[in-house]
Amino acid sequence: MSKARARRKRIRLGVLVSGGGTNLQSILDHCRLGKIDAEVAVVISNRPEAFALARAQRAGAPTVVVNPKDFPDRERFDGRLVEVLREHRVDLVCLAGFMRLLTPGFIRAFPERILNIHPALLPAFPGLEVQRKALEHGVRFSGCTVHVVDEGCDTGPIVIQAVVPVAPADTAETLAARILKQEHLIYPRAIQLFAEGRIAIEGRVVRVKGAAAEGRALANPPLTDPKRPRPRAKRAARSHKRTR
Ligand code: GRF
Repeated sequence: MSKARARRKRIRLGVLVSGGGTNLQSILDHCRLGKIDAEVAVVISNRPEAFALARAQRAGAPTVVVNPKDFPDRERFDGRLVEVLREHRVDLVCLAGFMRLLTPGFIRAFPERILNIHPALLPAFPGLEVQRKALEHGVRFSGCTVHVVDEGCDTGPIVIQAVVPVAPADTAETLAARILKQEHLIYPRAIQLFAEGRIAIEGRVVRVKGAAAEGRALANPPLTDPKRPRPRAKRAARSHKRTR
């Protein structure tokens, strides 16, 4: 870790999980290696058997299970989540495969301070089983989105997206794996943008202060046929012949 980064204030993350926790792992790794100015203050799972809890414990992060079965309704369940997050003085809440919809009371407790990662290019394919739905629609590109959480389902302002091509032979599983690799890169990046105070929300649009636009365009299938030489390569070959 650079000395400058070691000196910078680290924001405290509360990560909410329900499952395997590969996104949590990526966040823990980025924190440990000093690649982001953040630390995981607490990991909360709604499922006691979630493997994400073992990942957190291995990394020395505090874990708490808040089981919905112990609460009479969603409001009180979410109220307990808010309590735990406040007890751990969390600056930013990160949903990482957390399979529950949050109540308006929870969203109001952390205004513009909740991020979620979703395995599709929102606003296309919100909700569940989105890789299968993307394949059924025959899309040529899919990807993932980190967005600020509002009261809708996967509807909040978009912070960062990564695009992956869809291959003709893809299954929902192979596509999900390709997308997941990008999730592990863009989630820590979004957290760092938040830590640097570079996320400005204007209505439903996030302005990322100081970010340059990505300039490359992609086509799928590609514009050139791999079996035919590309026109530019042909021209280069001809002019090479002439100069000999
Ligand atoms: C990820 O695909 C994420 O986008 C979605 O749930 C999955 C969680 O995976 N919200 P993991 O638990 O982080 O491995």
